[in-house]
Amino acid sequence: MTTPAAPPRTSATGTPHTRREGRAKVTGEARYTGDIPFAELAHGWLVTSTVARGRIRSVDTDTVLAMPGVLAVLHPGNALRLTPGAGLMGPDANLQLLQDDRVPHVGWPVALVVAETQEQARAGADALVITYDEEPHDTAFRADHPGLRPTAPSPLAMPDVDQGDPDAGLAASAVVVDREYTTPEEFHNAMEPHAAMARWENGRLEVVDSNQGSYAVAQVLAKLFSLDADTVRVRSEHVGGGFGSKGLRLPHTVLAVMATTILHRPVRVVLTRRQMFSLVGHRPATAQRVRLGADADGRLRVVEHETASPTSTVHEFAEQSTRHSRTLYAADAFRLRTRVVPLDVPTPGFMRAPGWAPGSFAVESAMDELAAEVGVDPIALRLRNEPEAGPVSGLPFSSRNLVACLEEGARRFGWADRDPRPGVRRDGRWLLGTGVAASAHSAGVGASTAAITAEADGTYTVRVTAADIGTGARTALGQIAADALEVSPESVRIRIADSDFGLAWLAGGSMGTASWAWAINEAAVALRKKLADLPGDMADLPPEGVTAHADTTELLAAREQRESHGYGAQFAEVAVDPASGEVRVRRMLGIFAVGRVVNPLTARNQFIGGMTWGLSMALHEEGVRDDASGGLANGDLAGYHVAANADVPLIEADWIEEHDTYNPSGIKGLGEIGIVGGAAAVANAVWHATGVRHRHLPISLERVL
Ligand code: MOS
Repeated sequence: MTTPAAPPRTSATGTPHTRREGRAKVTGEARYTGDIPFAELAHGWLVTSTVARGRIRSVDTDTVLAMPGVLAVLHPGNALRLTPGAGLMGPDANLQLLQDDRVPHVGWPVALVVAETQEQARAGADALVITYDEEPHDTAFRADHPGLRPTAPSPLAMPDVDQGDPDAGLAASAVVVDREYTTPEEFHNAMEPHAAMARWENGRLEVVDSNQGSYAVAQVLAKLFSLDADTVRVRSEHVGGGFGSKGLRLPHTVLAVMATTILHRPVRVVLTRRQMFSLVGHRPATAQRVRLGADADGRLRVVEHETASPTSTVHEFAEQSTRHSRTLYAADAFRLRTRVVPLDVPTPGFMRAPGWAPGSFAVESAMDELAAEVGVDPIALRLRNEPEAGPVSGLPFSSRNLVACLEEGARRFGWADRDPRPGVRRDGRWLLGTGVAASAHSAGVGASTAAITAEADGTYTVRVTAADIGTGARTALGQIAADALEVSPESVRIRIADSDFGLAWLAGGSMGTASWAWAINEAAVALRKKLADLPGDMADLPPEGVTAHADTTELLAAREQRESHGYGAQFAEVAVDPASGEVRVRRMLGIFAVGRVVNPLTARNQFIGGMTWGLSMALHEEGVRDDASGGLANGDLAGYHVAANADVPLIEADWIEEHDTYNPSGIKGLGEIGIVGGAAAVANAVWHATGVRHRHLPISLERVL
């Protein structure tokens, strides 16, 4: 086939593109799961336990069933039986809802009230009387909890490391920094609460859901409800934030499917914001001990990092905080430990840069403490400990430009003028300080499929089960496909978030764009070959067009091992009022190296969003657990503070050019790295301002001095 000569065009990737769905979003035309009307829709409202441990003794359904509009009350006594073993990454018993009378924590789903309207369902849920046989509970996490144990092997677990001779190294060190750092429970507050609609249509289960990966959700639902995978279709056109909370835990989705299967009508379940504080996987508290042994010039002999976090009694999720210490700095010896203790609390889960965010707070704070002890500039200290290869893995780096990030950031931030002494700069009543921290995040890629159709009208349709959780993924994929097809982005239609499109990696692990791009590139190559082999020209295509498919599963398996991470350097300037304890961040700068940046506009958004969260983690976010009841004292947005506009100063984010070849797209992923190191940069700046070291987050007013 002869294709028309391509008009002169520049590469779409690397140039700014506004979001494809931006207009629909700002005009309100874009509908989220909770907004979409469905005929005959019934509404489910979750009832969650008020006790921290025990058994359900009774559920008084009669009163509620007599209320206006109430259609059903699902509870462990009448629920559908689910198949054990389902889960996104191994079996997750959090999905086994209403299967028995056990209550493992406050906020566990114990019933679903279904009614004609959402208000009627809510009224029914409020009126439902459930009695419990309570048992003593333990929700108090501490670093020396007797129940702490090694983590179970899992695809996510970072194995303990014993490398070299840490004890000899510490004995030979001129300086040892030995500190404990703690971070509190932190909670997801995506703009759009979790929501799912389920209905049976022509023998297929159709689910509209707010999630980070429709294919994965479809697989989980098929397993849980013992259905053929092809009979389940999950879609999620628009998603208002996810950050790790929309993939692993699906109480609303599971119960919507159960209710529609029982009631034979469409059912929607939307979580309340309070329910998000116990059901979608929060970041657990961490207690971390970091021991750095160094020579007098700051060269590290030993890195020890022990991290402990609570999990639930339902399922083990351990915060993998040693991810940071195993890749950042060279040392002769490493001792890395991850410990976990099951408590009567909700199961933690992924939250933006799981492991990396709290791990970087501890390690990057400890590096700042070491810099002060040995009298070496914090940036010079990091340069001095730059490894040649993966410090623990020994693998070559696919690319590593931490040094360039630190140097470029130092130049732009004005670091050279910094007086290293703490507590000496003032601006009126404010004490001023600056701090730096290094960032890193793993840059992986997962198996995906994609299909591209050359349409008879000369346009192209790309189908990939990507999710756009507000990141601009849809737009970036349009740029990638346009370049792969050598056409303009306007002639490419992007269809995402439909499990019928097939296997794809989630919008998670900062792996989405790289994984989907690889499949799209492969499909584009296959399509162009197919078109070249056809007689005639584009006008002669059949009405259904010509489609090529790609699947990267085998390509992925064939790669050599590399240590592949994005890196960055974060800088913060703070002002501290010693009278009130108020901390104001005056500016932040982040310089990152994350391989190919597809869309500078949305990339900057992701960095700034992550850095804002780092600021929020440093100064505001803290779940306060009331150990008497086992519930949260501040499980809503009134009590749980997240940084608001007035808290956020000038934040600048930029990146350096980096050519990485670990996956053919050259993309390392950048959705999570912005939060990594952010809290440490702020905490280090608070130390520089005041001379007071903060090893416990958040640095709230009463803790400052
Ligand atoms: Mo992310 S916490 O892998 O969505």
